[in-house]
Amino acid sequence: MSDAAQLLADLEVFEREAIAAFERARTAEELEAARVEFVGQRRGKFRQLEERFRALPPDGKRQCGRRFNECRQRVRAALESARARLAQPQAKAEPRAAAFDFTAPSLRIRRGTVHPLTQTIEELIDVFGRLGFRLADGPEVEDEWHNFEALNIPPEHPARDPNDNFYIDGQRLLRSQTSTVQIRVMEKQPPPVRIIAIGRVYRPDVHDATHFSMFHQIEGLYVDRHVTLAHLKTVLRQFAQAFLGPEVQIRFRPSFFPFTEPSVEVDMSWDVRGGQWVELGGAGMVDPNVFRAVGYDPEQYSGFAFGLGVERLCMRRHGINDIRLFFENDVRFLRQF
Ligand code: DAH
Repeated sequence: MSDAAQLLADLEVFEREAIAAFERARTAEELEAARVEFVGQRRGKFRQLEERFRALPPDGKRQCGRRFNECRQRVRAALESARARLAQPQAKAEPRAAAFDFTAPSLRIRRGTVHPLTQTIEELIDVFGRLGFRLADGPEVEDEWHNFEALNIPPEHPARDPNDNFYIDGQRLLRSQTSTVQIRVMEKQPPPVRIIAIGRVYRPDVHDATHFSMFHQIEGLYVDRHVTLAHLKTVLRQFAQAFLGPEVQIRFRPSFFPFTEPSVEVDMSWDVRGGQWVELGGAGMVDPNVFRAVGYDPEQYSGFAFGLGVERLCMRRHGINDIRLFFENDVRFLRQF
């Protein structure tokens, strides 16, 4: 958050607290103590805000100036009216309800905002919905069959290492990928399938600007006769352009995932000439072994699948540089969306 935005947020709190303290004062001594605390010349809280205001660069000052003066005036007015109230001899004894001034301007009540990740998820559902993908769902506590086995990840595969997963007991774990939902959907219905699944996944990662032990993925699965890699690329390009703008390009790099063959990493870029590509996630053509695990005939059907990071999409979209901000519940961050 910029210094100016931070100051605006702090002004808000300061104003609310100062006015409440002045209104609460029942005696001249209490009022004086509140005055010193909030607007005292030497150590009052407003002094510090004033110093921070003075330290802002010119455009920060421009951004805060009006609010800053408004706050000063409101707090002063509250102090004056508290003084007037206490100057009346009977005021002290009067019950609080009777002293309430119905004509005073109200404190501003802020409307909440929808969490940026929730906004992103709603948009993803909307964009993929327009491309014909239905929303599917699966549990966050999974068994090894859905998280690994049916996805062609054998017992000795490093992805199954207990140190890299949140196992709950010998058989169950917090899902490490939304690819589990592919299996759950195909087990329940015959082809064709065209679904997305969005939800939380869990990995014991050390938290830093780009890693968190819980994050969100969007998974896609399209199974039918004659589905090809060209369909995959078109769907992902159309998605990227709908979500981030028509100038966005995507590219595939060869990769490996046990549940797709061939497999690719998906990158995207706004300015291809600038050469800055951002990795979005993985994708590929569904491996025949996955089809066999759910009882689909790989000779008749083909399909593509993809898995993208939702936080990464949201961060790209809004220029957010630290994944931890999503989960700290700091309203100064959340309010900006
Ligand atoms: N499940 C993979 C992961 O968590 C991402 C992924 C890659 C999903 C390829 C897919 C896919 O559906 O086809 O890293």
